Amino acid sequence: MYVVLVLASALCVCTAFPFGAPKGACVDMTPGHIYFNLTRVSPQGTASPYRITVGSNQYMSGETVKVVVLVGVLSLCNAYPNGAPKEACVTMTPGHKYANLTSVHPQTTPSPYQVMVASNQYSPGATLKVMIVGPAFQGFLLQARHNGNAGPVGSFSNAPTNTKAVQCTAENDSMTHANPNTKQNITLTWTAPSDARADIMFIATVAQEKNVFWLNNTSPMVTLDQGYKKEVSGNHV
Ligand SMILES: *[C@@H]1O[C@H](CO)[C@@H](O)[C@H](O)[C@H]1NC(C)=O
Ligand SMILES: *[C@@H]1O[C@H](CO)[C@@H](O)[C@H](O)[C@H]1NC(C)=O
Ligand SMILES: *[C@@H]1O[C@H](CO)[C@@H](O)[C@H](O)[C@H]1NC(C)=O
Ligand SMILES: *[C@@H]1O[C@H](CO)[C@@H](O)[C@H](O)[C@H]1NC(C)=O
Ligand SMILES: *[C@@H]1O[C@H](CO)[C@@H](O)[C@H](O)[C@H]1NC(C)=O
Repeated sequence: MYVVLVLASALCVCTAFPFGAPKGACVDMTPGHIYFNLTRVSPQGTASPYRITVGSNQYMSGETVKVVVLVGVLSLCNAYPNGAPKEACVTMTPGHKYANLTSVHPQTTPSPYQVMVASNQYSPGATLKVMIVGPAFQGFLLQARHNGNAGPVGSFSNAPTNTKAVQCTAENDSMTHANPNTKQNITLTWTAPSDARADIMFIATVAQEKNVFWLNNTSPMVTLDQGYKKEVSGNHV
């Protein structure tokens, strides 16, 4: 019964991407694999009651970064002037359910994973190395986000073995696993938008195994070099 249901869902998701979005997500739907449901959700048509506030453009402590992300996710409604986001793009939560169809919840213990960036600053068009450090894991979803925003920016290339770039809102704007093979300390390659104008941070969900995952693994803030910054309310870029 369980297998039949999951496969039926997989077919729905596969046919739900007329634009050729992540074919790999369909593969990951295989029971036993870790998958992120990238199905589209409709944004609210009403004006958002939320605003993104940023305390500083400079490096922020881990505590502060988490506050910024929390506010950013709430402001999803007005963060996408150019199109609807997809659910997992925002929540970064794997779409697993137990056999009794209740959802699998994220771990609440401190995450054993760290997202490290080779540099704490960047310029438009620059390429940065990002590393997920910690114990061996099977699945992940990693994005770069402007401070406070709920959608990814920039693009990834040179996917290491067992990983691949996928599309959230633009081609290759997110990195994920290509299979459940174990991975450890992987290094991802991210290229900043040529018109970047705000600081970024990386955020990842890391799944040690199918039902054991940590959300909100954030890197320190990576600041945009002085001279390129354009202060926009909420950094809606
Ligand atoms: C994916 O998300 C959509 C929207 O929430 C939901 O309708 C669909 O059932 C989900 N699919 C799976 C396989 O979880
Ligand atoms: C992750 O962040 C989201 C939004 O910022 C929050 O709703 C959620 O509770 C956090 N989850 C964990 C496990 O920290
Ligand atoms: C569903 O199954 C999970 C895993 O076996 C269990 O932890 C959870 O309590 C179950 N939920 C219900 C409502 O039975
Ligand atoms: C996305 O990645 C694929 C595979 O690495 C590559 O062939 C393609 O050119 C990339 N597209 C963009 C817009 O970077
Ligand atoms: C991963 O990185 C951590 C921290 O640098 C290190 O302690 C560990 O030995 C590394 N593991 C592997 C398999 O490279």
